[in-house]
Amino acid sequence: MNIDTLLSDMWQQYISHNQQAEKIHSLLLDEGENIVNDHIALRTFNHPSINIDVLGDFFIEFGYEEKEDYHFEEKKLSAKHYRHPTKDVPLIFISELKCEEFSNDFQKTIDQLIEAIPNKAINNLKFLTSGIHWPMISKTTYDVLLKESEYAAWLATFGFRANHFTVTVNKLKNYNLLELNAFLKKNGFKLNTSGGEIKGSASVYLEQSSTLAEPINIEFSDGKAKVPCCYYEFAQRHMLPSGEIFTGFISKSADKIFESTNKK
Ligand code: NI
Repeated sequence: MNIDTLLSDMWQQYISHNQQAEKIHSLLLDEGENIVNDHIALRTFNHPSINIDVLGDFFIEFGYEEKEDYHFEEKKLSAKHYRHPTKDVPLIFISELKCEEFSNDFQKTIDQLIEAIPNKAINNLKFLTSGIHWPMISKTTYDVLLKESEYAAWLATFGFRANHFTVTVNKLKNYNLLELNAFLKKNGFKLNTSGGEIKGSASVYLEQSSTLAEPINIEFSDGKAKVPCCYYEFAQRHMLPSGEIFTGFISKSADKIFESTNKK
């Protein structure tokens, strides 16, 4: 499999559960827009068999390089971003939950999920789009995890897949981020307002906004319920004093973007 096939598989899986992203994507295409992905975000647990480095290695094999680390103390998350030095492919942003910082019961539940993942599944590139490897959790378990971490409840329900794709606003012909947000709201999409509709600013070289994840019907082991799935993000990057475009991330903004999968 080449990188383009992988990215296209990730996109197909992402829109299969995320109608709003597909709708926004086609709306922009109808406007004659040029859609380029800024980054794709993945979530995992920090267990050594499936942590950031394990997922990141798949991208390193494709020539990506490890860049910066990020820490989110309150959410008990770490993250790292990867960038390809030459190929025009999206940045990859991988985060992991620091499981040891949670309650014993919480850790036991997560350990059971991780133990259910077959070794051979992890060694395969398809792992990045493999979803869950454990019997679907109950809504009760979802709610128990949710009390300590929205991120954990999401990951236990949706497993390994792109959490979000991000449109490069710089490559759009007719919109800056403010105008794009107005266009999205006019078309009925709800934006994540945690930390303001636009996170960051030109002074930190990155401005971001995102939709709120749409709740979708999930068949939990003890019945159906609606929970938030994926969201779509938009990033406008600015030039560093060196004259180069900033290609990193801003922890304070990313912290708020994580809340796009919160239940509102
Ligand atoms: Ni993002």
